[in-house]
Amino acid sequence: MTIAVCPGSFDPITNGHLDIVRRASHSFDEVVVLVTGNPAKTSGLFSIDERMALIREVTADIPGVRVDSWAGLLVDYINEHHVTALVKGLRSSLDYDYELPMAQMNRRLSGIDTYFLMTDEKYGYVSSSLCKEVAKYGGDVTGLVPPNVHAAMEVKFR
Ligand code: PNS
Repeated sequence: MTIAVCPGSFDPITNGHLDIVRRASHSFDEVVVLVTGNPAKTSGLFSIDERMALIREVTADIPGVRVDSWAGLLVDYINEHHVTALVKGLRSSLDYDYELPMAQMNRRLSGIDTYFLMTDEKYGYVSSSLCKEVAKYGGDVTGLVPPNVHAAMEVKFR
């Protein structure tokens, strides 16, 4: 049984994230979308429970996907849940520079490998923070986030 974890803040999940989760589900028996605290990002738009509910709705049709959250070190979750691999998307060399030390640290701490999927070209510029900024000032993020996330951001910002 292979178990992959897609970790992230997911504040909120974007169509770029969703595409990575969907593609990861083709290669692993189970994919856990893990909403994890990022010490560099203090206050979020959505609570952890809200993020998880949104993710559950948009991944309901993907076989083998489940949603969980974790407040501690990622490697502790990995060890407790017998995780096979971490999976993340790479949009650009900026992501590479950000992800490489985390992948190496996680491998040093637990032996886990991080598998990177190249982001679909449609979503190369899409991030949760950019979508929030655009939505906050009334810009259109249709097609960049799932419809339920779009609606939830409308509620937060209006
Ligand atoms: O979506 P993000 O915010 O870029 O995801 C970063 C995240 C949450 C995956 C990273 O901050 C993380 O793994 N946090 C959990 C705490 C941890 O294990 N830190 C050490 C990472 S090597």
